[in-house]
Amino acid sequence: MTETLRLKDQPEWVYLMRDLYEFYRRLPAGGSAVIRSHQRKVREAISGVIKVNAELRPQEPSEKPVTAHLQRALDNGRLEKHAHFIRGLETVRARLNWQYGYEKVPRGLERSYAYAELAGPTGPVLTDTVILGLVLFAPGCTYPAHAHDGISESYICLSGAVSENDQGVYAPGSLIFNPPGQKHRITVADTNPSLLCYAWHGPREKLANQKMVFSRK
Ligand SMILES: [Fe+2]
Repeated sequence: MTETLRLKDQPEWVYLMRDLYEFYRRLPAGGSAVIRSHQRKVREAISGVIKVNAELRPQEPSEKPVTAHLQRALDNGRLEKHAHFIRGLETVRARLNWQYGYEKVPRGLERSYAYAELAGPTGPVLTDTVILGLVLFAPGCTYPAHAHDGISESYICLSGAVSENDQGVYAPGSLIFNPPGQKHRITVADTNPSLLCYAWHGPREKLANQKMVFSRK
């Protein structure tokens, strides 16, 4: 019988979880009670994951064409205040499972987008209370309009610059919040890739079946 692998057996995951916790504690909420409440819920979920010493379920490492931009995205991210989190990501980089999440990848996105989960119902840190992950976009990528059913989502910009719904520009350290069902479309600056981390919070049954799904016209 193989022994269950736990968070504390691989402290690099504990550090990543703690760094994410700190993001959700320290990033300003801009006076928004809704965003503050989302930040608190994500924080509580992460703190629970650490407290129970969650199970680790390593995923099959996988790259996608866009991961050719990952080094540049990490290098740029290392110039920011959250440099220690970027270094933490580098310690697990070779173990990340970059995926599309779609059965049929929208045209043009195969080479310019992928995401990798850090925590959630399928691991690598096992939890059913929150999903945490990374999204990587190539320069000039447009991530088509999509929404998440029953799930509150936040993106934190780690590297590069993105715009959402043409309504603002988010540089490293910015948080973007999308309430359940709200359509959002992301565009990425032409000259550099963008790396975001994201958190999804919502009812367990919604988190269990959540994918990066587009709303079809
Ligand atoms: Fe989203």
